[in-house]
Amino acid sequence: MCGIVGYCGSRRVVPVILEGLRRLEYRGYDSAGIVYLQDGKLIKHRSEGKLSRLEAIIGDAIIAPAHIGLGHTRWATHGAPTTANAHPHSDCSGNLVVIHNGIIENYHSLREELKDKGHIFTSQTDTEVLAHLIEEYLENDLVAAVKKAIARVEGSYALGVLWAGMPDALVAVRNQSPLVLGVSEHEGTFLASDIPALLPYTKEVIFMDDMELAILKADGHQIFSLVTGLPVEKKVTTIDWNPAMAEKAGFKHFMLKEIFEEPQAITNTVSGRINPETGEVVLPEIGLTAADLADIDRIFLVACGTSWHAALVAKYWIEKYANIPVEVDIASEFRYRHLLINKRVLTISISQSGETADTLAGIRIAKEMGAKIITICNVVGSTMTREAHGTVYTHAGPEIGVASTKAFVSQLAALFLFTLYLAQKKQTISRELGLELGQELIGIAGVVERELPRLQKEIEHLIESYYDCRDFLFVGRSLNYPIALEGALKLKEISYIHAEGYASGELKHGPIALIDKDMPVLALVPQDEVYQKSISNVEEIKARQGRIILIGTEGDSHLRTITDDVIYLPKVHSAMNPILYTIPAQLLAYAIATKRGCDVDQPRNLAKSVTVE
Ligand code: M6R
Repeated sequence: MCGIVGYCGSRRVVPVILEGLRRLEYRGYDSAGIVYLQDGKLIKHRSEGKLSRLEAIIGDAIIAPAHIGLGHTRWATHGAPTTANAHPHSDCSGNLVVIHNGIIENYHSLREELKDKGHIFTSQTDTEVLAHLIEEYLENDLVAAVKKAIARVEGSYALGVLWAGMPDALVAVRNQSPLVLGVSEHEGTFLASDIPALLPYTKEVIFMDDMELAILKADGHQIFSLVTGLPVEKKVTTIDWNPAMAEKAGFKHFMLKEIFEEPQAITNTVSGRINPETGEVVLPEIGLTAADLADIDRIFLVACGTSWHAALVAKYWIEKYANIPVEVDIASEFRYRHLLINKRVLTISISQSGETADTLAGIRIAKEMGAKIITICNVVGSTMTREAHGTVYTHAGPEIGVASTKAFVSQLAALFLFTLYLAQKKQTISRELGLELGQELIGIAGVVERELPRLQKEIEHLIESYYDCRDFLFVGRSLNYPIALEGALKLKEISYIHAEGYASGELKHGPIALIDKDMPVLALVPQDEVYQKSISNVEEIKARQGRIILIGTEGDSHLRTITDDVIYLPKVHSAMNPILYTIPAQLLAYAIATKRGCDVDQPRNLAKSVTVE
């Protein structure tokens, strides 16, 4: 949801900002803009569309001898994705600019008030009121004016402000939208919505908290609490990602690269946390005491999108092996329903970014109600990890493709680890079963690695007769039902084909009416505990002339009697099927979308990190 970049230091600012924006473009790509200070004047370039259009406009200005500036890549909320609505937004004088990620909820009344005072607005955005409001309070102290403006504003915001009257500093404010400072003794001080923008320059970062204001200068920074007015001492965190991790490394798209990184992502998530000899799981950062564990009588899993699908899988695992009732909620619903939560309810957020607004709001509510909070998260230091009592990191490395792939399978690996941890602590599984399941989890990365190249080839061939379909159904049972949902989500978000996921047994309660020769159905039919039931459902589709793709177990020749289009996967423990069966679903979506010429890494209307409600 919009990417913010700021820099002041010894480097020329324009390339630094553009590189940062390129690395944050996954957050939004409706428009982009940059501003820098040169010879006492603010110079602004903005363009609708992707960053490449802005770069074309900037041309030779890339070498401008400027050392302080801001940049923004937008995911439109208020106002169409036009150049006029692109950030940075200026005040009336043109001497002050603002970039913003978030939503100013009371912007309308502020705008009317400022218009009455003579301010002239040139965009339809909520952000522009900030520039005018700061201008209204500005005498000769930018920080004082920003503080006064913030006191009037309701909503969420990560802000960067630059004023020609204070040419050596940027001012940044955070409230409910992520903001991180990068610090480097030799290079200067950086500001960004997310870590990948900082990686080429520094791995030393400081995560801002809500209601904090930062003053960034080439030779250092200061951070103040807007609540107490006092300076705040912040911890510097060293990030162990490297810049290459956020590059395509020869792959055509980030999405494909990230699918091929899945074996490593699973291994990184699992290794060091499970003893291969005993199956014992250790999760030192989980933050649960023995008393906490004994207290838990229910678990809420809260997440959005793909992460919600991981939660649905985990419900099956946790209930089966740890014997604890689990409720799974879409975060945007969870936060507004009448929750029955107390300290015996463990609430777990699942999030790649750790910044998704609804999920964050959900855990805040549960925390207030006395629940212990754990987050399963991929981004070190993200807001959720700082607010939760405990964390299980997924260690997938930076995920840049908007469609979540390696983060999802790592979430599954982390959730299975967590299931084993709970089951072992609560002694709901035998030692033997713990060891068997632990070894299955350790082994699944190798299976995925072996199968990936073959699957990619087979699927590229298979989709020739499916890529131009208008609709698709994905079905699965039990543990594979959430994978059907995930397969459908992947396909619709990157190929724009209408796709739905269903529990196989639910088809005959309505959706089967859709089946005809134009409605392909992809069915997940591993030889697991519900295999016979799944096959019966597939027969029902076949009887109605449905076109069927089956994904099933190697050696299951019966599948070929149903359809020619079968993708075989090796037999693994049925608990591991959700991880394994995700791979062909992701590759199918990727192959169809690229065949249709879609921009798989930056699908229309989407942003990777949804930091507004
Ligand atoms: O960062 P999060 O895991 O909290 O993000 C949740 C969803 O926005 C995300 O999974 C989204 O559904 C992806 N586009 C799916 O590919």
